[in-house]
Amino acid sequence: MTFDRSIKIAPSILSADFADFGREIQAIEAQGADWVHVDVMDGHFVPNLTFGPPAVKAFKPHVTTFMDVHLMIAPVDPYIDAFVEAGSDMITAHFEAGPHIHRTLQAIRAAGCKAGVAMNPGTPAEAVENLMDLVDMVLVMTVNPGFGGQKFIASQLDKIRRVRAMIGDRPIHIQVDGGVAPDTAPLVAAAGADVLVAGSAVFKGGSVSNAGPYGENIRAIRAAAEGAVARAA
Ligand code: DX5
Ligand code: ZN
Repeated sequence: MTFDRSIKIAPSILSADFADFGREIQAIEAQGADWVHVDVMDGHFVPNLTFGPPAVKAFKPHVTTFMDVHLMIAPVDPYIDAFVEAGSDMITAHFEAGPHIHRTLQAIRAAGCKAGVAMNPGTPAEAVENLMDLVDMVLVMTVNPGFGGQKFIASQLDKIRRVRAMIGDRPIHIQVDGGVAPDTAPLVAAAGADVLVAGSAVFKGGSVSNAGPYGENIRAIRAAAEGAVARAA
């Protein structure tokens, strides 16, 4: 995949019907999703549980775009190979997940996968400054990870701007995750984010048998973000 900073919408299947992931993934892609965001939670790093490598492997044949796997687990390293074998196109690990994020990112890349580093809202931008040569993406969390449908934390906008400046000309995406909707998308896009994760704001009002609202929601988020980028230019 060639790198560019165009706005990409990555619906989080955390807000999908858990009994119907295959058709939900097909529906969001048909409705314009650029990436598919997969939230892996372990009930330890975050206070919620979702799914592990066998489920992610089962999602893969349904994904024709890009499978973006957000690991909210600790430790990370013992599971990297399993998530790579499951077909992850990008694996994002949290800065806060252990003492050796640098080693973790090296291991993800060594396993042949793109690597992302995620930061919780309480972690400063400078935490990732020495990781720039090891990552394809920085994820700035705009909620505390663990649940969908939480309120956007506006104090993270300054962090996005700082990370954007840190990245400079490097081919590194900035992803935001949490509370992204048509009202907050312009803020994060103007601050420098290019990959917008959205769970509840994409899936609301729709279903696999009535996927039109997914498309309307994706288009509304994209238009709001692209409008802000155009105004900032
Ligand atoms: C939060 C997850 C998010 C979540 C976003 O821990 O990482 O991906 O699904 O959900 P919304 O868009 O509903 O805030
Ligand atoms: Zn996520």
